[in-house]
Amino acid sequence: MTQKLFYGVAAAAIMIIAAACNENNPAASDLSIVPAPTELKLSGKTVAVPETIGISAVDDSLKALADTYIGQMSSGAEAVLPLKSSSSEAFIRLGFDRKLSSEEYRLTVRKNGIRITGGSTKGVWWGLQTLSQILMQAENGCIPAVRISDKPHFAYRGAHLDCCRHFFTVDEVKRYIDILALHKLNTFHWHLTDDQGWRIQILGYPKLTDVGSVRKETLVGLYGESDEYDGQPYGGFYTQDEIREVVRYAGDRQITVIPEIEMPGHAVAALTSYPELGCKGKGYEVRTTWGISEDLFCVGKESTFVFLENVLSEVCDLFPGEYIHIGGDECPMTVWEKCPHCLAVMEREGYSDIRQLQGYLLHRIETFLAGKGKKIIGWDEILDGGVTPTAVVMSWRGPAGGIKAAKQGNHVIMAPNNYSYLDYAQTADPEGNGEPLGIGGHVSLRIMHSFDPYDELSEPEKQYILGLQCNLWAEYISDFSHVQFMVLPRFCALSENAWSEGKTDYDSFLRRVEKGMLPLYRYFGFNVADYAFNGIE
Ligand code: ACM
Ligand code: ZN
Repeated sequence: MTQKLFYGVAAAAIMIIAAACNENNPAASDLSIVPAPTELKLSGKTVAVPETIGISAVDDSLKALADTYIGQMSSGAEAVLPLKSSSSEAFIRLGFDRKLSSEEYRLTVRKNGIRITGGSTKGVWWGLQTLSQILMQAENGCIPAVRISDKPHFAYRGAHLDCCRHFFTVDEVKRYIDILALHKLNTFHWHLTDDQGWRIQILGYPKLTDVGSVRKETLVGLYGESDEYDGQPYGGFYTQDEIREVVRYAGDRQITVIPEIEMPGHAVAALTSYPELGCKGKGYEVRTTWGISEDLFCVGKESTFVFLENVLSEVCDLFPGEYIHIGGDECPMTVWEKCPHCLAVMEREGYSDIRQLQGYLLHRIETFLAGKGKKIIGWDEILDGGVTPTAVVMSWRGPAGGIKAAKQGNHVIMAPNNYSYLDYAQTADPEGNGEPLGIGGHVSLRIMHSFDPYDELSEPEKQYILGLQCNLWAEYISDFSHVQFMVLPRFCALSENAWSEGKTDYDSFLRRVEKGMLPLYRYFGFNVADYAFNGIE
């Protein structure tokens, strides 16, 4: 996991003033961009990159964006591109074109410089991400003269990170957000509460972090096979100031953060902190192993709703985006079946199926959040207990839940495990190929790229697919270098499927990843899995 690739050649090369920026330069006829842009036209000429690359902008919002971009390109890179912000007309000029949609941009490289215009700061930011790939492909200080018109297919392009099974620091979370930006992903789904740790400070309930953020030890080895524990307490949480800092950092990079607060299951850390909120009322311990717990919040106690609403009120104040993810996955309902409080609700509401209690919780929480101007997202299990028409379904148990939801008119985010779980193995023979210990599964770059989010959907049903997401669960991922190894280069397939219009051929996609993205990964010194580049799937 410690293997670091470093690539300083492109950056060094562009500092050499072009000796031969003409049609014969190899940069003239070859440019690889991931995700594939809507339209890319090379003129056959090349343009010299100056020794110092100034960036000017039409207004303060774009000046701030230029500074963020310069910060992005200098963070962690060993051979830093010579970018400078400029108050007069510079080699790179940023502006708006209000005829474009918000995330859309135009990028032109001409002899007199580079111009990027966007429908908003978002469009300009995505144009800058394309620019990074162009600069990395300089040959002897020359880049191709090109005209790119580009806009995303899906409005929602997300990546998730589980910070509960293992904790990642604020700096690491920011780095993850940097990686999202490179791939034109606009949503960070932050998994903040689970059985193995509660990670977000809630001022009204200090025990959530005093007690619930620490487990006494952690399983070593594979869940289901190993019974060895490390004997080391493990914990961590984000203060509200840190959460605000991350949300601001993401916002500067045109990325929205969606917090996930799990209910009614994956709640053992919360129940350890406040046992009275569970059906059993006592005997909980922050989980030290993986898998699914039977313990749930008691939906028969009004105190559960008081707690959840108070927690969510603080969460809503911290996250300005329109969505709150309320979890909803993997809830065995065995404790509810034996709980007098829960059974009383069943009787009062006239329910015949225990799963309707999950619908009851969901409905109450959705109504509460709607009062705060928020919409909810839940894992596809929320379909089983009577989903409201307004809940967004995140399909993870394959695409089936998403297809069902779209057919009944719910909005959908497709994150099917068999095409987009980044904790799954990258090759068919993980042990033989030396992959680190993992949860299983098989999602190669090719498999991920092959996903069709519209499978089985009619034209009118397709409109319910808001977009795509990849999930990174961290049971077996304890350090940030390993995170990079799991998402790179697979984020490229997510990015291509979510941004580009129409399906691209895998072999040409892989070539573009190698030529367009890999140099950028090397520039930043990221830990990249190279299976796909070696034909190992
Ligand atoms: C999930 O993977 N349990 C949503
Ligand atoms: Zn109960």
